Amino acid sequence: MKKRLVVLTGAGISAESGLQVFRGSGGMWNDYDVSVVASIDGWHSDPALVQEFYNQRRAELEKAEPNAAHKILAELESDFDVQIITQNVDNLHERAGSTKVLHLHGELTKARSSINPDEICEIGYRPIEHGEKSNDGTILRPNIVWFGEDVPMIYPAANLAKTADILLIVGTSLNVYPAASLLVYARRDVPIYLIDPNEVTYAEDRDITFIREKATVGMEQVRELLLRKFFEN
Ligand code: OAD
Repeated sequence: MKKRLVVLTGAGISAESGLQVFRGSGGMWNDYDVSVVASIDGWHSDPALVQEFYNQRRAELEKAEPNAAHKILAELESDFDVQIITQNVDNLHERAGSTKVLHLHGELTKARSSINPDEICEIGYRPIEHGEKSNDGTILRPNIVWFGEDVPMIYPAANLAKTADILLIVGTSLNVYPAASLLVYARRDVPIYLIDPNEVTYAEDRDITFIREKATVGMEQVRELLLRKFFEN
C-alpha cells in the first residue's frame, strides 16, 4: 500500500507561476485592504468592488501555468497516496495533474449563491457580471471562503492530516487559521517537511525539516528525500 503524503499548500507554491502571494514584500495585501476585498463584511458593503477584484484574479489565473512544484506533486502520485490540502483558490494543482485536491478557501472558477454555500456552479475564467443571479435567485458571488466565514472543509482536512504518513507544507506563512492548525493533527511520529524561501514561524512544538528554498527547487529536493527514505534500503 502506498504511504499517504498529505500536503498543505499556500500562495507561495503558485508564486513562480506569476500569481501574487498575500503577505510580505510584493504581497497582495499591501495593494488591497483585505477587510474590503476578502471579508464577508466587505462583500456586504461593496459587492461590485469585491466582484471586480475576483474577476481580475480569475483573468490572471487563465494566463498562469502550473510550475515544476505543482507538477512534481502530481508525479509523486505514482509512488505515494498524495492528498493535497490547499489554501489557494487557483486550479494549478488540478491543471498539473493532481487528482486529490481539497480547497480550504474555495475556488476561483466556481461561483455560488449568496445564501446557500452548497448552491455552486462552474464559471470557468469568465467574469461574474454585476447583478448576475444564482439558480436560487440570489446574487451570484465568488465561491471563496472570506474572512468572517466558516471554513467547512477544515473537518475533512483535519481527518486527512490525522491519517498522514508524511506531512509536507509548501509556500504558506501559516498566518491564517484554521488552516495553520492542521499541523497539530499529524501523528507525532510523522516526518514533516516545510518548503519556503523565507522564515516561517509555527506555534506547534514539532520536529520539522525546513527546506529554505523556492517551491520549484524545494520540491525537487523533497522528491529526492522521499524516494530515498521510502524506496531505498
Ligand atoms: P501568504 O502570502 O501569507 O504566505 C505565502 C508564503 O509563501 C510566505 O511564507 C512566503 O515566504 C512564501 N513564498 C514566497 N515565494 C515563494 C516561492 N517561490 N516558493 C515557495 N514559497 C514562497 O499566503 P498563504 O499562507 O497562502 O485567504 O495565505 C493564507 C490565506 O491568507 C490565503 O488563502 C488567503 C489569504 O488572505 C483568503 O483570502 C481567504
